[in-house]
Amino acid sequence: MENNLVTTAYIVASALFILSLAGLSQPETAKRGNLLGILGMAIAFGATALICQGYPVQIGSIGLGVLVGVLAAARVAMTDMPEMVALLNSFVGLAAVLVGFAEYLQPSAALTGTDITVHRVEIYIGVFIGIVTFTGSMIAVAKLRGWVPSRAVLLPARHVFTLGMLGAIAVLVAPFLTATGSPGMWILAAMTAIAGIFGIVIVMAIGGADMAVVISLLNSYSGLASAAAGFMLNNDLLIITGALVGSSGAILSYIMCKGMNRSFVNVLLGGFGETASSGKAAALEGSATSTTTGEVVELLANAQSVVIVPGYGMAVAQAQHPVAEITRLLRAQGKQVRFGIHPVAGRMPGHMNVLLAEANVPYDIVLEMDEINDDLSHTDVVLVVGANDTVNPSAKNDPTSPIAGMPVMEVWEADTVVVLKRGMSSGYAGVENPLFFNDNTLMLFGDAKTNVNGILAQLSASTAPTPALAAA
Ligand code: TAP
Repeated sequence: MENNLVTTAYIVASALFILSLAGLSQPETAKRGNLLGILGMAIAFGATALICQGYPVQIGSIGLGVLVGVLAAARVAMTDMPEMVALLNSFVGLAAVLVGFAEYLQPSAALTGTDITVHRVEIYIGVFIGIVTFTGSMIAVAKLRGWVPSRAVLLPARHVFTLGMLGAIAVLVAPFLTATGSPGMWILAAMTAIAGIFGIVIVMAIGGADMAVVISLLNSYSGLASAAAGFMLNNDLLIITGALVGSSGAILSYIMCKGMNRSFVNVLLGGFGETASSGKAAALEGSATSTTTGEVVELLANAQSVVIVPGYGMAVAQAQHPVAEITRLLRAQGKQVRFGIHPVAGRMPGHMNVLLAEANVPYDIVLEMDEINDDLSHTDVVLVVGANDTVNPSAKNDPTSPIAGMPVMEVWEADTVVVLKRGMSSGYAGVENPLFFNDNTLMLFGDAKTNVNGILAQLSASTAPTPALAAA
């Protein structure tokens, strides 16, 4: 009776997870998708609690997890969300490793004959995926936080080293399957150590601009790790949710790789195919022209078509609300105003879309890079609000650039480009940007929110009816 109830609950939870993913694919239905996911998770928790013994331990661990999760989620800034996602991925990986070791030390007494070998294979694969996810995600967090260089760090002869590690992991399978007791434990520990280093090496080898793909790939690995834990624990729901996370993460990574013109296999194997010589861009010459908020207001007043290209700096400055206000004012004057969104602008997939939705910018004027790039040459003014790598022409024109080949917003095609940022520093990929030295580029230096507020105040003043007219 209890088992039937749990099976039914698991089926309902799985269906809710699938509906949740479907909902999350559109901004209009994303909130509903989130709620369905929360409901599915609550049902999954309840059903699992029903079949487990040891309620004090269970309530204690779930309670502690909920407390830490709620506190962390409530405190995390939107700009730190990718680190949080990478950290959560690492927890899933670590959990799979711990489950693997626990299952090795205390396997179910019901296992006999070939079932024991199959269970050992599940443990070996689960621990391997788990530890790669754990160490890879920790390096991703360190790169995003700036604790280690965000550029690709390539070891000499790293291909030999990487293949050597994979070879050693493959060779250790056979003795692990036949060993018992502590020798088996030592083999599992040795594989864990090698795979842990493998995770570090492959993520270190990925350059700053490709980190976006890595985060979603690690998210996919975390799904595989929980599916592996599901096999070890014989828990169907864990297998289903792991498979959903693993496959959706892999599809997202593939889409991002296509959008960034990167080989999926290369990124999957940790930048395999990159060479140590890549990464020295041509030196830049020239000087940048700075401008004022007054000049920008004048430019906007004379423009008919305006495109706003937001980036990570808009998120840091939290400038989305005044940007949305400027958009409303200009549209009220009959001007065409649209947003151009690069697939990896900001620090997480859909980062800019979330900020603009929060500021109530209508969805139909927020366009993807491919939808708007061809229109930029017919645009009067482009406002680049805190974007850098995603508007860097060297990706297109300089084959020696570390970001060569990555599609970018071709903002330089517009009549005038105004770049809002605090100084001349480079973006996340650490690459200099020749856009700032172009003849048709004006630099509006300072915090994006302060400057956008300045533009908004002057625009509002110039469009407000004069007291005499208002009284008439
Ligand atoms: P970035 O290239 O990161 O440049 C952001 C710029 O914002 C900086 O150059 C900075 O210049 C400026 N900025 C920072 N704070 C500011 C403030 N308060 N006011 C005004 N400007 C400010 O941004 P992007 O064009 O959005 O590119 C994203 C990069 O992150 C890509 O390389 C991408 O691959 C990588 N990445 C993306 C993701 C995802 S999934 N989206 C995940 C990880 C990494 P100043 O310091 O001079 O102000």
